[in-house]
Amino acid sequence: MALKITVIGTGYLGATHAAAMAELGFEVLGLDVAPEKIEMLAAGRVPMYEPGLEELLRRHVAGQDGSTGRLRFTTSWEEVGAFGDVHFVCVNTPQKHGEYACDMSYVESAFASLAPVVRDGSLVVGKSTVPVGSAQRLAEWLPEGAELAWNPEFLREGFAVQDTLHPDRIVIGVASERAEKLLREVYATPLGEGSPFVVTDFPTAELVKTSANSFLATKISFINAMAEVCEAAGGDVAKLAEAIGHDERIGKKFLRAGIGFGGGCLPKDIRAFMARAGELGADQALTFLREIDSINMRRRGQMVEMAREALGDGSFLGRRVAVLGAAFKPDSDDVRDSPALNVAGQIHLQGGQVTVYDPKGMDNARRLFPTLGYADSALEAVRGADVVLHLTEWAEFRELDPAELGAVATRRVVLDGRNALDAARWREAGWTYRAMGRPHA
Ligand code: UDX
Repeated sequence: MALKITVIGTGYLGATHAAAMAELGFEVLGLDVAPEKIEMLAAGRVPMYEPGLEELLRRHVAGQDGSTGRLRFTTSWEEVGAFGDVHFVCVNTPQKHGEYACDMSYVESAFASLAPVVRDGSLVVGKSTVPVGSAQRLAEWLPEGAELAWNPEFLREGFAVQDTLHPDRIVIGVASERAEKLLREVYATPLGEGSPFVVTDFPTAELVKTSANSFLATKISFINAMAEVCEAAGGDVAKLAEAIGHDERIGKKFLRAGIGFGGGCLPKDIRAFMARAGELGADQALTFLREIDSINMRRRGQMVEMAREALGDGSFLGRRVAVLGAAFKPDSDDVRDSPALNVAGQIHLQGGQVTVYDPKGMDNARRLFPTLGYADSALEAVRGADVVLHLTEWAEFRELDPAELGAVATRRVVLDGRNALDAARWREAGWTYRAMGRPHA
C-alpha cells in the first residue's frame, strides 16, 4: 500500500513540499497551527507569492474542480497521527530575538504535539534547518515505535516548486536501515530520478544544510568585498566576477555584487551556525562568518552613502528618493531581512522622503515599514524623485523605459544596487547611472 504522508507547517517549505508530494501520487495531509492558513490552503490559495505553487496546489487539493483530491489540510494533531506513515516537519526556525541563536520553539512544539499521536512504525522526518545536535535530541522525544530521520531542504524562494520537484541532491540523515528504506521509497518517484542520494548520520545531515548556506553567503560577501576594493581602486566588479567565474572551480553563480543577501535563511543561518559552534567549543572555526555577516551588513550602509553622495549636498532632508524593490529577492513577496527595505528605512530615518514600489512585496512591506511612502507602480514611485535606487532585481525593472521615467523624475540619477540594469540604455536616455563596485562613466 502506498505510503501516506503528512506535512507539519505550511510556510514556503511545507506548502511546497505538501503539494509536491501530492503531485508525486501520495495521499497527503498538511497541518498548520494557524487556522487561517489552513482555511486558505484548503480553498486552493497560497498565503504567499511563489511562482507555480498555487497551480500545483489546486491540481491536488480536495474539493477543487478537477483536482486529484490527494491533498487535504487540518489543524488536528490526532488526525495527522492516525493518518501518516511518514511525517515531514517543515516548521520555521527564525533567529531568536536579540541573539544569534536559532529559535527552536516551533520545532520543539511540533515534536511535542506529534510524539503522543504518531502510530507505531511511523517515520518522522525533520526538514527544518536546525542547529547540529538537534536531531539526536529530538529523536528521544518520540515514542519507541516511531523513528526519526533528518532530510534537509535546499529550496530557494522564487524557485520553490522547481527545486522541490527537481532537487539537485537528496540528503538524509538516518539511524537505521528501515528509515533509509522508507525515505528511499518516498523518493523513488520522479522526484528522486537523477538526483544524487546522500545517506549519512544525523549531525552530518544537519551540517550539510548550514554549511551549504554558509558557503553561499561567503561567495556573496566575497564578491561584495571585491566590490569595495574595486570602488577604491577604480576597478569593475562585474567584469571581475565574469572573469573569475570562467574558472570552473569558482563558478559563475552567486557572484553578483550589490547590496548583499537577506531573507529568512542566509543571514539567520550563518548566525545560528556561529552560535552553535560556540556552544560546541568550535567557535574559532567559524569566526570568518562574523566577517561575512559584517561585509554583508556594511553594503546596505554603503548604498545609503552612495545615495547621499548622488544628491550632492550631503543630506536627505526634504529630498525624494524612489526605491524600486522591497522583497529580499525577485519573484518573491518575502521581505524578511530585506536589504532593499533596510536601505529604504535608513534613508527615511535620515529625513529622506522615500517612495517604495515592488511588484509583489507591497503588502508585506507596508506591514513591516508602515511609515515609508508607497506607490502603485515604478513610474509613480519615480515621479518627482531626486534619485532612483534599484534594490531588488525584478525582471519588471529591467524592462522599464528609462526615457518614460526620465520624463517624470526631478533628477535623472539611478543607482543600481543589484548590478542588473542595462547601464547603456539608461545612459542613452540621459540618466546618470551608477552601480556598486563599478566605475562611474
Ligand atoms: C537560500 C539558499 O539558496 C537555499 O538553498 C536554502 O534552502 C535557503 O536559503 P533563498 O533565501 O531563497 O535561498 O535565496 P537565495 O537565492 O539564496 O538568495 C539569498 C540572497 O542573496 C538574496 O537576498 C539575493 O538577492 C542575494 N544574492 C544572491 C546576491 O546578493 N548575490 C548573488 O549573486 C546571489
